[in-house]
Amino acid sequence: MGSLRILGIETSCDETALSVIESKDGADITVLADKTLSQIALHQQYGGVFPNLAKREHLKNLPLMLAPLLQEAGLAAERPMIDAIAVTVGPGLEPCLWTGISFAEEIAEKWGVSIIPVNHMEGHIFSALVRRKDEFSISPPADRRAGNFQFSKPDFPALALLISGGHTELVLIKKEGEYEIIGETRDDAVGEAFDKVARLLGLPYPGGPEISRLAETARRESRSCFSVRSSFSPEQLPRPMLHSPDYDFSFSGLKTAVLYLLKKVGEPSEEIKRQIAREFEDAVTEVLVAKTKKALREFDAQTLIVAGGVIANTHIRRAFENLANTYGRKYLLRGDFLHIPEPRLTTDNALMIALAGLAHYGEARPAERGALMARGNLRLGEKIW
Ligand code: KG4
Ligand code: ZN
Repeated sequence: MGSLRILGIETSCDETALSVIESKDGADITVLADKTLSQIALHQQYGGVFPNLAKREHLKNLPLMLAPLLQEAGLAAERPMIDAIAVTVGPGLEPCLWTGISFAEEIAEKWGVSIIPVNHMEGHIFSALVRRKDEFSISPPADRRAGNFQFSKPDFPALALLISGGHTELVLIKKEGEYEIIGETRDDAVGEAFDKVARLLGLPYPGGPEISRLAETARRESRSCFSVRSSFSPEQLPRPMLHSPDYDFSFSGLKTAVLYLLKKVGEPSEEIKRQIAREFEDAVTEVLVAKTKKALREFDAQTLIVAGGVIANTHIRRAFENLANTYGRKYLLRGDFLHIPEPRLTTDNALMIALAGLAHYGEARPAERGALMARGNLRLGEKIW
């Protein structure tokens, strides 16, 4: 088989992203070009993603980004040598998904190439399964991911914890492409909880990185030998559903607990904000790790994948590395037990969509306008075509 070249398109939320990958065997992946345009700055003024504004931006960005992307990939602008176009069809914000789908159908028809619909959450799983081969070279800028990657299949059964702004789910993968959601949040997603707590603390959107920064400062201060004992120690926040007999999560109570704590405190000082951020992060981490550990044991998982925007969080990353060092020890000789995406691939990107598309190349169909639907609530394991 010759090389396959896939163009990935991602527009499910507030990132417009395009990526071109090439592979002969599905294992050695060359990223020919990769671009992400984040709309964070635009949505910051609203304190969250504003779907119609996001849609308008995607509509504007996609055609503007395509020509430079193809040029960087060394492909012709008119009829580029591409085998298929992989596009996110869900889950996500439907107006945004539609822009990606219509764009994909339009160019696929023009170029005469086939289309592969991709589940965004499966994309996040794939983002954890590639490693940069030239890992030790100087890192390219954040919006450039071109280079050589190695894709490795997980050992099955595998367990995936997906933590993002819209989702928190534990997924059992018994074999390739067979996904079963064994637990999920009953209310807010983890990223959403970070964003809401950040807002309560007067921090800008997205809240995850802000809370993480404060929490890390609090940890550094408490470790410092010069540290003065804090005048404030937040009463322990709850660890929601820590001991529930299932794999579900709940984070909205935690946010409410922060709200009550703040009502008691009045106007919080910077130090109090740091303490609360740390306590909140500890509570979230404890629940995520405990539930994952329980599922690893019950299903005798051979691989753990943790992906989604929230795994950019240093503290949560460390906690899963520690878990892998203890739980995963017996597997270490066989290679990697824990798969976490490199920091640049934690947030939404099109490389992960192109990778998922490559894995599903067998399901590609000729482009036909109107064949695909945006599916805002698409779940892992659901059929797409
Ligand atoms: O996967 P993602 O880019 O978009 C969705 O598909 O939702 O995730 C975005 C979420 C946001 O809620 C953001 O606050 C959170 O990921 N996030 C973090 C961090 N960086 C991003 N949460 C905690 N700590 C971080 N460092
Ligand atoms: Zn995402």
